[in-house]
Amino acid sequence: MKGILLAGGNGTRLLPLTKYINKHLLPVGKHPMIAYGISKLREAGVTEILLITGSRSLGLYAEYLENGKDFGVSLTYRVQHQAGGIAEALELANGFVSPGDKFIVLLGDNLFQDELTPYIRSYMKQPAGSAMVLLSPQDHPNRYGVPVFAEDGSGSLLYIEEKPEHPQSQYAVTGIYMYDDSVFEKIRKIHPSQRGELEITDVNNLYATEGKLKYELLQKWWCDAGTFESLQEAAARMKDVLP
Ligand code: DAU
Repeated sequence: MKGILLAGGNGTRLLPLTKYINKHLLPVGKHPMIAYGISKLREAGVTEILLITGSRSLGLYAEYLENGKDFGVSLTYRVQHQAGGIAEALELANGFVSPGDKFIVLLGDNLFQDELTPYIRSYMKQPAGSAMVLLSPQDHPNRYGVPVFAEDGSGSLLYIEEKPEHPQSQYAVTGIYMYDDSVFEKIRKIHPSQRGELEITDVNNLYATEGKLKYELLQKWWCDAGTFESLQEAAARMKDVLP
């Protein structure tokens, strides 16, 4: 299985830190944030990785990670011209993954403890044309995509609401997604949201409408290190995770 690591975006919630440096190169414990995503993919045996970022920081990534050899992976880079959304960035992976292949997508600012292997195994058993999201219970899910479940006790995920004022469940949809190449056709069907981005939630909702959006629950700590508070929390948690 190949992996896509997204490290684009403007990181506006971390200004002024992100004025000169891409969010995913900020320090978390002893390493730049991006090292943790790479390490999680490698731990699960995902060693062919496409890293997508903006042109401004591409040189820094190349200097730090080179071709990935020192990190036990093989890296390919693609540039997202402007921060047009997670789904727009993901579109750039078309061609990196082969038709029929399943792959995993990680948002570079998502830091977590669970191993990915059991989730990948579970997704590999799903039929072609389906997608999988991983959920994490949160005290304040309104900051994230939030799943809405069927009330018939079946546990079916009906749809996802992006940053709802009144969340209908206690879960966040994490930035860990699994797809096959059916995702590119779905990305072509969506339109920019009010914030002017192609939203991954809109893509996932197309799968949900067809009853093809599966989910699993993360068991351990997860965080989106996109704010000052969560960045500090992540630094404390990840202090000794990597040598
Ligand atoms: O962290 C999980 C959340 O991530 C989900 O619960 C939401 O449903 C999902 O929309 C996303 O929300 P955010 O508002 O936190 O996304 P953000 O704009 O902060 O971008 C998240 C990551 O995606 C970040 O690591 C950079 C990457 N990204 C983002 C944009 C907008 C790109 O590579 N390119 C982009 O254009």
